[in-house]
Amino acid sequence: MTAFFVTGTDTGVGKTRVSSALLHALQRQHARVIGMKPVAAGTELINGEWANEDVLALRAASTVQVPALYDNPYLLNLAASPHIAARDEGVDIDIEHIAACFHALRQQADAVVVEGAGGFIVPLLETPGHSATSADLAVLLRLPVILVVGVRLGCLNHALLTQEAILARGLKLAGWVANRIDPSMTGLEANVDTLRLRLQAPMLADLAWQPHAGAADLAIRLP
Ligand SMILES: Nc1ncnc2c1ncn2[C@@H]1O[C@H](COP(=O)(O)OP(=O)(O)OP(=O)(O)O)[C@@H](O)[C@H]1O
Ligand SMILES: [Mg+2]
Repeated sequence: MTAFFVTGTDTGVGKTRVSSALLHALQRQHARVIGMKPVAAGTELINGEWANEDVLALRAASTVQVPALYDNPYLLNLAASPHIAARDEGVDIDIEHIAACFHALRQQADAVVVEGAGGFIVPLLETPGHSATSADLAVLLRLPVILVVGVRLGCLNHALLTQEAILARGLKLAGWVANRIDPSMTGLEANVDTLRLRLQAPMLADLAWQPHAGAADLAIRLP
């Protein structure tokens, strides 16, 4: 069973796009491929139902459809940090429960791609006496991590801090993706060169700014 945890240098940097591309790449090697978004914050009315875009995108790139309680155990309405959205709805996010859902998915899949929420250390739960972050979830699942770097001003610091945080937890950085979300950035190539030099994992894709590209068309290699 192959599985990865996809994190990013920030929210909105391309984790869903990359997770979907990974699922398509995995489909070329495996029959049963499932995307998981353990905690999704932010819903909109889609075809008469409150749904989260990331969850729908990952399902569209999966070959096995499972009950929502497994591929998305926590669906929160507020588009905010998960711990704030969860508090707003009176939900206690339990990473042990997420791990149980992940292990159930593994039974039905040859490959699972888990998309984290926000950046690597975003809080999932913050109540008196209890706290958990997205990083704690990655550790609990013991998954190799794929880092999506949204290439824009500030990304070197974010990428290197995230690499440190991943390695400090004893997790493997299995690969990283340069996602060129600001094509007019000053020194764009020099930034990507610095990332190549300083990130201690293979670059799996170098993605241009392509608003109309579908996930299936993005060139990405598997770790
Ligand atoms: N290379 C790219 N070219 C054009 N648009 C992109 C590119 N990468 C990401 N986008 C767009 O930027 C937005 C954010 O991307 P995406 O949803 O994949 O980020 P994310 O890291 O998953 O965000 P979140 O933290 O909300 O889960 C989306 O509208 C996506 O289509
Ligand atoms: Mg996303």
